[in-house]
Amino acid sequence: MDRALSWEETEEKIANCRRCPLCESRTNTVPGVGNRNSIIMFVGEGPGYNEDMQGEPFVGAAGKLLDKMLLSIGIVRKNVYITNVVKCRPPQNRDPLFEEQAACLPYLRTQFKLMRPKIIVCLGRIAAKALIREDFAITRQRGIWYDKKGTLFIATYHPSALLRDESKKKQAWEDLKIIREKLKEFDFYE
Ligand code: URA
Repeated sequence: MDRALSWEETEEKIANCRRCPLCESRTNTVPGVGNRNSIIMFVGEGPGYNEDMQGEPFVGAAGKLLDKMLLSIGIVRKNVYITNVVKCRPPQNRDPLFEEQAACLPYLRTQFKLMRPKIIVCLGRIAAKALIREDFAITRQRGIWYDKKGTLFIATYHPSALLRDESKKKQAWEDLKIIREKLKEFDFYE
């Protein structure tokens, strides 16, 4: 995808996208939201019902928990950039298919190039597999930094997984503290 695209052009391309069948059932595209100059980006899986209705990522129950997770390490949502692997809602909130992810990933890559975040947090298995490595095992490999060409990637549990299984919250908190320590190194809180 063209390296020189602006944020506005990228969002317009997403809004008009017909690269995969998810475009047929979407209400709104969900390109991403937040501070495009932040050093940290959070990447979820794909929009759910509320996100599809509002055109904004993480605004439903999982989003409320994400906001709390961010606040627990002193991050206000508007100070980071939040997006998803796929920008249109998969029907019935199923996992996005490999082909749908492949069709949509060039938009995320353009967003990486525009933003150049130092840290990318993968929220859940789907984002970690798409962005860190194909065989990523979330239970064993979360909370670990992966340096990919100078950008630091880390994965933690998806907030929806934490809503389904509260016993995972302890480990997610450990991951969040690891992220907080790295953010301190980058003077995020100054
Ligand atoms: N789950 C996601 O992965 N992304 C959202 O935007 C909302 C719920």
